[in-house]
Amino acid sequence: MEQKYVIKGGNPLVGEVVIGGAKNAALPVLAAAIMTDGCCHIDNMPNVRDINVLLQAMEGIGAGINRVNENEVVITGKGMEADGIVDNEYIRKIRASYYLIGALLGKFRKAQVVLPGGCAIGARPIDQHIKGFEALGANVVIENGMIKAEAERLIGTHIYMDVVSVGATINIMMAASRAEGNTVIENAAKEPHVVDVANFLNCMGADIRGAGTDVIRINGKESFGNCEYSIIPDQIEAGTFMTAAAVTKGDITVKNVIPKHLEAITAKLVEIGAEVQEFDDAVRVVATKRLKPTQIKTLPYPGFPTDMQPQMAITLALSEGISVITESIFENRFRYVDELTRMGAKIQVEGNTALITGVEKYTGAEVSAPDLRAGAALVIAGLAAEGITQVDSIGYIHRGYEKFSEKLRELGGQIQLVETEKELQKFILQVG
Ligand code: EPZ
Repeated sequence: MEQKYVIKGGNPLVGEVVIGGAKNAALPVLAAAIMTDGCCHIDNMPNVRDINVLLQAMEGIGAGINRVNENEVVITGKGMEADGIVDNEYIRKIRASYYLIGALLGKFRKAQVVLPGGCAIGARPIDQHIKGFEALGANVVIENGMIKAEAERLIGTHIYMDVVSVGATINIMMAASRAEGNTVIENAAKEPHVVDVANFLNCMGADIRGAGTDVIRINGKESFGNCEYSIIPDQIEAGTFMTAAAVTKGDITVKNVIPKHLEAITAKLVEIGAEVQEFDDAVRVVATKRLKPTQIKTLPYPGFPTDMQPQMAITLALSEGISVITESIFENRFRYVDELTRMGAKIQVEGNTALITGVEKYTGAEVSAPDLRAGAALVIAGLAAEGITQVDSIGYIHRGYEKFSEKLRELGGQIQLVETEKELQKFILQVG
């Protein structure tokens, strides 16, 4: 039997949870670390599948990786050779492999990386990455499933991004940090993880200003040195637990967060009637009654994050009235709707819009995680549902959530990872 989560719903989740480092900041930070010949000591790294796959691929091209513990690593790019080819069966499945193009191109003026995979949430083109590398002077070709980028010289330039892209902004920023002269990226993404990567590059010796605004200015440097760095907290993991409090009518204090990064999520939860208290590095979410409906449109930061869309949908599908969610970043991010319908939700999808008619309760069902965030959302729905829910394809969830079931159990959730029919039946007997 494939691993799955089995859940007995109905308990309000109550207590404290500590949030780990941001996966989507850690991936480019780790990739960028190969650009130095010094040593980078990085902590608050999430111990999740995508991170481990990336570290393995980096080792495969000669980077020195010393895992100090689950959440701490020392990386050096010393001794790496320019001809490393990034390809193995695992790296093909993750999106962040593309960050090694920017890092290798910046350092060696040459990169060969397998085309990126990742969650099937839409077409996910990389034209903006390529446009940026070409503007810096690289020749980029796609051949036999590989991206090959090469440049005699990388020369700073002015780049206007046609779409706001987190990945392209970071990738171009990495390559440009080692180009000759000045680069300006306009219409840049402003997500907290873009700022985190800029801070990390600056810590290694880069000269980047303006990250967090839509114009980033980069003065290229010839080499990088040592750096000690701590990854920012994961705003999406935090948001997931915030909605878990709202959906289960619980009371959760989410610790080790930057409340400013959570503002879009906090504002929506307050709007629908949850109570949110902000502290210096924590937020507490309390929900005591049935919540109200609202309208949400996903947008680049500081708008409402697409990575929180499914978690908010499962919250609204239990609210009293009709809500509308418009997904404007990825066209295929409503694949969880069929699964949630099996649990009793009433959602109609038309193009990139979901019309949600709130129901009073979910009932347990067998569902499948279609991608990372939707998988986490279905687990939370299961914790709010009447009866037993089984969630399979949970490999997706492990790509981005560390100790997910353990953290939920500490909050009073009845959830177990099972691998055999016997374990499944034992859990069902235990919870009655
Ligand atoms: C990152 O994906 C995240 N992934 C995603 O996290 C997240 O959903 C997304 O940013 C948006 O916040 C990683 O960081 C590894 P984009 P990315 O480039 O970089 C279009 C999760 O669950 N576009 O900002 O791939 C694109 O199609 C996930 O953790 C182009 O048209 O996203 C999309 O509509 C899944 N051309 C929009 O831009 C390009 O060259 C934003 O994509 C690049 C993107």
